[in-house]
Amino acid sequence: MNLITTCDKTFTLQQDETLLEGLERTGHEVEYQCRSGYCGACRLKLLSGQVSYPEQPLAFIAPDEILPCCCQADSDLHLVCHLRGDTPEHNPDLFDNDLFAAKQS
Ligand code: FES
Repeated sequence: MNLITTCDKTFTLQQDETLLEGLERTGHEVEYQCRSGYCGACRLKLLSGQVSYPEQPLAFIAPDEILPCCCQADSDLHLVCHLRGDTPEHNPDLFDNDLFAAKQS
């Protein structure tokens, strides 16, 4: 199982999950429209790793970019992608008991 590392988190993809779906599930901010390789809205910068495309996408991408909606991770990947601003990591609930307890110890 390949590790997906972004600017904020590391995770693995679930079975039959696209990279775009994995990024969404883990709280990342990713633009998308077609979700099938036509529009290019989902393009992300790939810092390291290898991907392949079961079907050649029509959207233009630069050599260091990938389309997470339709690529397959062939190795561990390091991507430029950030968590959404509304995730708990960015907006901790200051009245959450667990957070308060963690700060007490
Ligand atoms: S969402 Fe259109 S190419 Fe990925």
